[in-house]
Amino acid sequence: MTELKVAVIPGDGIGPEITEAAVAVMQAAAKKFGLSLSHDSAPAAAAAVDQGLPPLPDHTLKLCQQSDAILCGPFGDPRWDNAPPSERPERAKLTLRKTFDLYANLRPVKPVPALIAASPLKRELIDGTDILIVRELTGGLYFSEPRGYFEDAQGRYGVNTMKYHAWEVERIGKVAFEAAQLRRKRVHSADKANALEVMQLWRETIQKLHDSSYSEVELKHIFIDNCCMQLVSRPKDFDVIVAGNMFGDILSDIGAQLTGSLGMLPSASLGKGVPLFEPVHGSAPDITGTGKANPLAMILTAGMLFTHAAKRPDIGEAIDNAVAKALDKGLRTADIARGDGVKVVGCKEMGEAVLAALEG
Ligand code: IPM
Ligand code: MN
Repeated sequence: MTELKVAVIPGDGIGPEITEAAVAVMQAAAKKFGLSLSHDSAPAAAAAVDQGLPPLPDHTLKLCQQSDAILCGPFGDPRWDNAPPSERPERAKLTLRKTFDLYANLRPVKPVPALIAASPLKRELIDGTDILIVRELTGGLYFSEPRGYFEDAQGRYGVNTMKYHAWEVERIGKVAFEAAQLRRKRVHSADKANALEVMQLWRETIQKLHDSSYSEVELKHIFIDNCCMQLVSRPKDFDVIVAGNMFGDILSDIGAQLTGSLGMLPSASLGKGVPLFEPVHGSAPDITGTGKANPLAMILTAGMLFTHAAKRPDIGEAIDNAVAKALDKGLRTADIARGDGVKVVGCKEMGEAVLAALEG
């Protein structure tokens, strides 16, 4: 790759503030490691609608298509709180995921040592936790048909469908097993096979795939409700967790909070087309414009972009280390400001501290 072209979509709410911090870190990291990088920004979601554009404008999609990677902020705006899903700004993100067939969403849950005190769990439970959530991202309850609003003799009703073909389960299973091979060789597959046919098929498919190709990886099937409970009582026992779209969404918010805050969790959405990198958190309208946002998930997301899109895990690691160093200095945004001897800073200062740590 001669030049890494990144499409930047700042998104809504705190998106622009945290994206500014992340782009500065991304540029500095590329420069430090001699990687040629260019980036262009374009709007989507509520930010686009406010400019009189559709939630996913053609030129934004085109920019993404012409790029090697997409760095994407959070989408969502409370002005659409009562709107049907098809009209909400978040839909633009689902369209992007589907357009590029980004079926594998990797969400690493690894608390930074300096933040152990910010976790709601006792130190002995959380210390040493290192989990990779592999969430199926283009199927299941989010995308299957039929869906929509209908009416019958009992009145109006809404429908969504959880459907998975065996091939969809197989391809996400492969991602999970292959990730596990490079880690502690353990996969938990979270399902609801005791109640849902689609999840019985999920379980059978994962088991077959394991037996035929990945028998050296330890596989455990776990019901999703039990998995949520175990995640907060013995998180250290997990290595890779694979789950469908809806269950993976829920698991990753639990995982994020284990690390101290939803403001800490990055993610990579990979598949056939241009890979997309996005923090797990939302647009945080309650703190938008106050300067209090935590830019670290977005900065760590830029780190995942180097690791996965540029195949430069060394740069990803340098960004992770710079974040750890800024936290070691005692700097905290409000959402992670727990424990003694910490200094509460805003988004801008936190971003600058990471930059300084990266360059120093
Ligand atoms: C996430 C978010 C999205 C999702 C929303 C914004 C549609 O919660 O990335 O986890 O549910 O996938
Ligand atoms: Mn979510």
